[in-house]
Amino acid sequence: MSGKGADASARAALGLALLGCPACAAKLSPLGEGDLSCTGCSAEYPVVAGVPILVVDPVGYMAEHRTSLLAALAELTDCSPVDVATVERWARRRPVTTQRFFDDDFTRDEEHAVTTPLVAEDAHFAAFVASAAATTPLDRLLELHGRPLGRTVEVGCGAGNASAALAASSDGLVMVDRSFRAVLIARERAEASPRPVVAAVMDAEQLALREGACETLVALHLVDVLADPLAFLEGALASLARRGTLLLSTPDPALGMPDGPADVLAQVAADAGFEVTGRADFVPWLRVHSPRELQVFFVQLLALVRPR
Ligand SMILES: C[S@@+](CC[C@H](N)C(=O)[O-])C[C@H]1O[C@@H](n2cnc3c(N)ncnc32)[C@H](O)[C@@H]1O
Repeated sequence: MSGKGADASARAALGLALLGCPACAAKLSPLGEGDLSCTGCSAEYPVVAGVPILVVDPVGYMAEHRTSLLAALAELTDCSPVDVATVERWARRRPVTTQRFFDDDFTRDEEHAVTTPLVAEDAHFAAFVASAAATTPLDRLLELHGRPLGRTVEVGCGAGNASAALAASSDGLVMVDRSFRAVLIARERAEASPRPVVAAVMDAEQLALREGACETLVALHLVDVLADPLAFLEGALASLARRGTLLLSTPDPALGMPDGPADVLAQVAADAGFEVTGRADFVPWLRVHSPRELQVFFVQLLALVRPR
């Protein structure tokens, strides 16, 4: 990425300041062959195409996703021999019989940052779609937040629909997802930002972030797909500086209870130790699948602050 975006030293400084060991949250330091080592528990983590793989079982991740990792490298990077060798070196450490895919579920528009025009001719419907597209859930969340983002981590960034906007309005953005392919796409979309951007693989339920290190966390349409939203919220609280904010958008604030009460997520967030400082509900979130197919969710937005 030479010539565009922030320089390598700014990216390295951001990664060093925010990323931590998924097992103990201690600082990471470079090790031979481009790997990272935890300064607390000595666990080691691979780095592939500049993306640290910060999961509790990195050998399992590399072995089970070997084919998908190599495919994503071929598809989205210049596929350097060093990166291929890193995948092979880690994958060899555990014989596995089953290969896993990254379960990316992006629409074509989301993945390729394009806008497919819908064929609907009804003027009222077209006006609704135009208004929903003009003010997205992220726009509304940033309004609710109403202050600078500071150093920001976007958890479950997917194909990076929000990443370029977040990079532009933060003091540096770390984009994380459990899909290696997703973070490569998101990084590509955000890296023209003059602010540093870093991509990492991690599990939202075991965040690999330093304690008290970030001013803002953003998780759009993520909590509803997690098995343990409380684990995510507790990890998010620990990684935020005092008065730091977690901005959430979700189509399922009842967390898996069809027709359940809309305040379940806010209650779980309070149980994790957050204060709810901003809330909006029934904000439209559009996902266009084809000229004839539009999915509309009415999402809940929460701004959650870590108390002093
Ligand atoms: C519905 S997509 C939302 C993507 C993006 N935030 C957006 O709004 O367009 C959910 C994303 O969360 C990621 N994800 C799901 N479970 C995760 C986990 N446990 N840890 C990290 N990412 C996860 C998926 O890979 C996917 O990219």
